[in-house]
Amino acid sequence: MCGIVGAVAERNVVEILLEGLKRLEYRGYDSAGVALLQASGELTRIRRTGKVQELADAVAQHDALGSTGIAHTRWATHGGVTEANAHPHFSSERVAVVHNGIIENYVSLKANLIEKGYTFTSDTDTETIAHTVHEELVSGKTLLSAVQSAVKTFHGAYGTVIMDKNDPSRVVVARSGSPLVIGLGLGENFIASDQMALLPVTRRFIFLEEGDVAEITRRDVKIFDKDGAPVEREVIESNVEHDAGDKAGYRHYMLKEIHEQPTVVRNALQHRIDDNGLTKDVFGEGADAIFSKVKHVQIIACGTSYHAGMTARYWLEQYANVSCNVEIASEFRYRKSVVHPNSLLITISQSGETADTLAALRLAKELGYMSSLTICNVPGSSLVRESDLAFMTKAGAEIGVASTKAFTTQLTAFLMLTLALGKENGMTEADSKSIVSALHSLPAKLEETLAITSGIEDLAEEFADKHHSLFLGRGDQYPIAMEGALKLKEISYIHAEAYASGELKHGPLALIDDEMPVIVVAPNNELLEKLKSNVEEVRARGGIMYVFADKDAAFAGDDTMRVIDVPHCEAPIAPIIYTLPLQLLSYYVALIKGTDVDQPRNLAKSVTVE
Ligand code: F6R
Repeated sequence: MCGIVGAVAERNVVEILLEGLKRLEYRGYDSAGVALLQASGELTRIRRTGKVQELADAVAQHDALGSTGIAHTRWATHGGVTEANAHPHFSSERVAVVHNGIIENYVSLKANLIEKGYTFTSDTDTETIAHTVHEELVSGKTLLSAVQSAVKTFHGAYGTVIMDKNDPSRVVVARSGSPLVIGLGLGENFIASDQMALLPVTRRFIFLEEGDVAEITRRDVKIFDKDGAPVEREVIESNVEHDAGDKAGYRHYMLKEIHEQPTVVRNALQHRIDDNGLTKDVFGEGADAIFSKVKHVQIIACGTSYHAGMTARYWLEQYANVSCNVEIASEFRYRKSVVHPNSLLITISQSGETADTLAALRLAKELGYMSSLTICNVPGSSLVRESDLAFMTKAGAEIGVASTKAFTTQLTAFLMLTLALGKENGMTEADSKSIVSALHSLPAKLEETLAITSGIEDLAEEFADKHHSLFLGRGDQYPIAMEGALKLKEISYIHAEAYASGELKHGPLALIDDEMPVIVVAPNNELLEKLKSNVEEVRARGGIMYVFADKDAAFAGDDTMRVIDVPHCEAPIAPIIYTLPLQLLSYYVALIKGTDVDQPRNLAKSVTVE
């Protein structure tokens, strides 16, 4: 959500900032801006609404220069999408600020600052940061101590970077609830909200902790904790691929990421399973001791990751004999819940920075869960650092806002977790063997499934003029139907709902007509006959259906029912396999509708505000 880049160097940093913004654009993309400070103290600001390219074009025209600079790509929270609301925000042409997060008490701060004579030129909460720091600076403080004092007055979440025109040799940064990472260079240092932004210039990173304030100059980084005490934070060598920001010849990141799934799932499995099952310490040292005590699992996540959790519940209860609840993080954190004895709290997140999921983890710690595990894609992210155990999904950088490969690797992780917890809870030998064998076959099955793309392209034409759609599934395919509906609404803007097909006659059947395409996921499993009855209920009401079915499921297509063959697969991996055609369907519908597939309207990757 929004992206921040900053640099303190000897060279002109403008290209570093713009490249960083482009690499972060998937996080927020309604407007962008840059502020540059020359050693002479000359301060330049350029802001544009629209994509980062608009800003880059404007910067090129201005010949902008600066060896210290900050930049931002915005996803609007407070204040509409206008140039005046784009960051950086200034105070008195002296202080420049970029900010991710929300200053929740900005209304009272603003009223105070206006009373003291400050004039606001935007509708944002961020501008209060600029004026508050300015007020501290004019009282004679250094930029560092001005920021340390200012942050004490802020409630809410911030990752913020601040420059002072009178001191061009440094930036000061503060983190609370919104991630920031310092990039270490040779005679130059950087700051960003995500390491992705800085990979072209460094691989050495320091992830700031909650409450940290840091002062960054060309040669030095000084970090202070929430109490103002100087602290050392670990320097981490990143192994994230530098070219992850590349589309590799695909038209969109989303299509590239869909097609990467066989490879990343293979990576997720590598060295973690062999012919006998899980290898040693797959979930980290000490995990086995924790798993041997687990009697209940509570899963917390948002969006697509929540759908992975919903699927996992079917597996954990069916195969591993472990009771499991799954809840949306934003609900869990604001209600009183009962903690079962010996409960393992599992968070799932692509980014590891989702504000609600992180807050839920922190709450769970207070509530006394036995232990916490995160299933996450971003090493060094907040969830990874704050959980007792972390399992990395190894999907690689996911740039498309609509999550695809992160989801299928999360599901792969959950099948491995099912094996691990099942081992401690009386899983049958047959189930264990069947999951291991299914996992071995998974990468190849995913490749086979992607080969049905051309049929789906044709199908997509039939959705382009539709306004509503219904997705149906049963059992562990119900969350997959939900995920299919989420993908379609996110990138094609077609209203899509998902139902467990057994629920049809309890209401949604009323919606069925020939304007409402019904998408059904139908592997050949023990629920097939029940599902077929539901399909007949739709047919009897004139519904038009698109059934993604196992060949052996014997659906007979006709005028009202199009059947798309999905390769046969073993039962445990069917939810992963059936996800792919639904991702492709959404992608091709969006393509036909001409939407911005990778950066759909109103959305942003990594939701770091609640
Ligand atoms: C949907 C999507 C979102 C995310 C959700 C959680 O395609 O990407 O629904 O799944 O915002 O994000 P993470 O997984 O980063 O916690």
